[in-house]
Amino acid sequence: MSNYFTQKNFQLHAENVALTDIAAQFSTPCYVYSRAALTDAYQQFSQALQGREHLICYAVKANGNLAVLNVLARLGAGFDIVSGGELQRVLAAGGAAQKIVFSGVGKSTDDMRMALEANILCFNVESAPELDRLNAVAASMGKTAAISLRVNPDVDAKTHPYISTGLKQNKFGVAYTDAIALYRHAHSLKNLRITGMDCHIGSQLTETSPFIAAVEKILLLVDQLAAEGITLTHLDLGGGLGICYDDETPPAISDYIAALLKALVGRTHKLILEPGRVLVGNAGVLLTRVEYLKHGEEKNFAIVDAAMNDLMRPALYDAYHRIVPVKQEKNAAQNFDVVGPICETGDFIGRNRSLAITEESLLAVMSAGAYGMSMSSNYNARGRAAEVMVDGDQVHLVRARETFAHLIAGECLLA
Ligand code: LLP
Repeated sequence: MSNYFTQKNFQLHAENVALTDIAAQFSTPCYVYSRAALTDAYQQFSQALQGREHLICYAVKANGNLAVLNVLARLGAGFDIVSGGELQRVLAAGGAAQKIVFSGVGKSTDDMRMALEANILCFNVESAPELDRLNAVAASMGKTAAISLRVNPDVDAKTHPYISTGLKQNKFGVAYTDAIALYRHAHSLKNLRITGMDCHIGSQLTETSPFIAAVEKILLLVDQLAAEGITLTHLDLGGGLGICYDDETPPAISDYIAALLKALVGRTHKLILEPGRVLVGNAGVLLTRVEYLKHGEEKNFAIVDAAMNDLMRPALYDAYHRIVPVKQEKNAAQNFDVVGPICETGDFIGRNRSLAITEESLLAVMSAGAYGMSMSSNYNARGRAAEVMVDGDQVHLVRARETFAHLIAGECLLA
């Protein structure tokens, strides 16, 4: 269990607040975040990077709640965005445009324009046609766009295939063997200014070796470019550091940074990183209540009020999240599949879990702070969950539960 979600008096708490109190006040399903957990994870990065010019660009896609972004912005974080929508979220949360890097394979002209207007730090360009389009858009605005190329280093991240991004067969980045020619091309374009090189090889990595293999390949390109007079001021090594959901043993943040810095010895480039999951994943839980216990012929089901629309990771990646009863019940534990009310067999939160629960028990789905709410949907006309942030003994509602009015906003009947 994390240091911020702990058992006190036989009850699970977020910092100093009992989750039963949060459920009573805000109902369920409800995402609960810990400000202290977020702050702690961010500070582990900044402390490990002390003495090195750096920028920690939190990957907004992991959790874009404005309060989460605001807490990180106040700590000095930059942001990694992938859309105009994420850009607007960061700005609305008080993030600095000059600390934003813009990743993604499909940036639209409108998104480019919005980001140029805001004066972001850098575009991480992922293809030849994107270079040309960005140059044209910048020219039409009388601006120069700072760019880095996202290079696909063809390194196996050894993670789930859906979240592995640095292999030749993945859609991300420019091919390693094309990178030098594309940098030359970018150098010739008047409205682009080359500032860095970028790579991101995947997510939920539990070893440092793939990161290091990628850095080593990237540095070979950096040296080739320098020999041609194209010098870079920053290296962006992406995100991807994993967390413990079950029994994984990912490196500590400090060990990951130490390994990167070792691979960068003698290099003076500013270091940019784009961590997402490792900052927010274990700073959040999804609180849900048991509606029914159903004893089938072969299995027992705990039907809860959260579903795949709230937390899609189990359905999409067969991902494991620990499920912990908020209060310890006295009855004997039984094996349950913990499932939601949605009409799909894939609508499960966890399978085969031994739980001592009754109807109305509250459950905490752990490690749900990253790619939980941000991947949620309105499937089955379910309003999205509420989100709250705990700060010591205070609880703040940071997103109200969606109502029917939210669900149909923008729809209309035929005249
Ligand atoms: N930078 C880029 C360019 C990315 O594409 C990503 C994540 C990150 C940084 C942050 O990666 P992180 O530090 O969070 O691993 N929905 C999946 C994860 C998708 C990750 C997509 N890209 C999941 O729930 O596991």
